[in-house]
Amino acid sequence: MYKIHPKTLFIGQILQYLPSCQSTNDEASVLIAQIDPNEGLVVITDNQTAGRGQRGNQWEAKAGENLTFSLLLKPGFLMAKDQFWLNMAISLGIYDALQPLVGSALRIKWPNDIYVSDQKLGGILIENTLHGYSIAWSVVGIGLNVNQTEFGYSTATSLQALAPLPNTYDLPGLLSRLCETLEQRYLQLRSGQRDTLKINYLQILYRFQEEHSFESEGQAFRGTIIGIDPNGRLAINANGQVRYFGFKEVSFSI
Ligand code: BTN
Repeated sequence: MYKIHPKTLFIGQILQYLPSCQSTNDEASVLIAQIDPNEGLVVITDNQTAGRGQRGNQWEAKAGENLTFSLLLKPGFLMAKDQFWLNMAISLGIYDALQPLVGSALRIKWPNDIYVSDQKLGGILIENTLHGYSIAWSVVGIGLNVNQTEFGYSTATSLQALAPLPNTYDLPGLLSRLCETLEQRYLQLRSGQRDTLKINYLQILYRFQEEHSFESEGQAFRGTIIGIDPNGRLAINANGQVRYFGFKEVSFSI
């Protein structure tokens, strides 16, 4: 069960807890189709059996040990072409809650993976419903590895695995804090503070302004991330030429 009392205006004020479900993003989409839920509603489960990730991947999380939830937003003020601004605000909201726990190695890997050094701590899957040129609904799915310590692959980590001393994190407490920091960043976006969001996002961007290897269309290349364009594309300087990549067009060699 989750009982939280976040100091927020709307995010997390209503919580729908499901002991088990296939995907909280799917459950949230059903609510949008069936009723007109309040903005800020959070759907959370202890046991997500068919979690979805980006690029058609699965999201796996051991039951009862992690946070898997979806937040419903109504960003009617945001044009569909500007949807990356929401990705930035959400990434920063998560960063703000985790940074005091994890410290300076915490990063956002473009577009919105939560990384600590070269390991993934969490992921975000944002699914938007458009109304004309703007976004009517946004289902913001967040998966964070919290108390799980065994993973199928070495590139995953968790708060518990990173803790210097064994420490079981309080899941409702962490969710409550996330509601607060997510709302602060969302309100920044809603009030037009885009410059602040972009500056802050670049400050914590994984491998920003460092030379590394990437891969695009089966070709490996070296380059340096130099920024994000207004459409959310990653700008990489490769041999003096700036190349721009959309969501599925480039991967990092880690
Ligand atoms: C990724 O990194 O690929 C994104 C992972 C997103 C996982 C979360 S867990 C809660 C929500 N429900 C889902 O089915 N997916 C998201």
